[in-house]
Amino acid sequence: MRNIRLDNVTEVASQTFAGATDERRRQLSQALVRHLHGFAREVGLTHAEWRAAIGFMHRVGEISSEQRSEFTLLSDVLGLSSLVDLLGSPAGATPGSVLGPFHTAGSPWLDNPANLIGHNAGERVLLRGRVLNAQGAPLAAATLDMWQNAANGLYWQMDPAQPSDNLRCRLRVDAQGAFEIATIRPMPYCIPTDGPVWTDLVEPAQRSAWRPAHYHLIVEAPGYRTLVTELFDEEDPYLDTDAVFGVRESLVGRYEDVNDPAGAARLGVPGPMCRVMHMDLVLAAA
Ligand code: BEZ
Ligand code: FE
Repeated sequence: MRNIRLDNVTEVASQTFAGATDERRRQLSQALVRHLHGFAREVGLTHAEWRAAIGFMHRVGEISSEQRSEFTLLSDVLGLSSLVDLLGSPAGATPGSVLGPFHTAGSPWLDNPANLIGHNAGERVLLRGRVLNAQGAPLAAATLDMWQNAANGLYWQMDPAQPSDNLRCRLRVDAQGAFEIATIRPMPYCIPTDGPVWTDLVEPAQRSAWRPAHYHLIVEAPGYRTLVTELFDEEDPYLDTDAVFGVRESLVGRYEDVNDPAGAARLGVPGPMCRVMHMDLVLAAA
């Protein structure tokens, strides 16, 4: 095509991907061209703005490493990660939520009920629940991978004072699909503010850097779709302004004061009362 014009450039560029042998790749490439061109047309993108955006992407790449993905953070603050989570959340199952940057493979396997308290300061609580299928039957073969931040708001990766296995574990549910983790109440904390995603995009919009307190969970069971999700705290002040759009109503739990001397003993608090959040997690069939 030797006469590229405003009225045909989008179609011509899109058509150059029509020969992709993989059908899904073709669909993704062509839709990407269409939507990028649509964005530029809608806002009347100028050269100066386009160059600034390319410079921004360079800086996002430059600060990224094995330990830090500023591109993932970019996706998070644009709500794209959350959209992908929701697109992958089947109706009738517990919805997915952001994985975040602080999952590390290989957490220690602990016996269920598990205890993560160790030397951690903070409010001692029990996180309890069951893993069920969509019909409400327990999934006795399910496993949980759980991680959270400490009372100072930091994950172990951010805090040299914490041992590398602090506040994370894997465990197997029992025959009723039930689990219990004695732990400390997670704290709200801020997304990273030392990179271009914060300085060039989020801060200029006068947005908040805060995420509401949460537990991260990966729930797996043979024959079921893996669930990557988070559980939030009903009393958290940042539930309505999560910087990365992870909150779903059904993921917001409440700590109840429960009369349970055995639970209090496992928490190491004077009984008989202890604070318990109970959340059932429903997996969709694969
Ligand atoms: C987190 O949940 O730990 C997190 C998620 C997205 C961006 C930053 C942190
Ligand atoms: Fe987190």
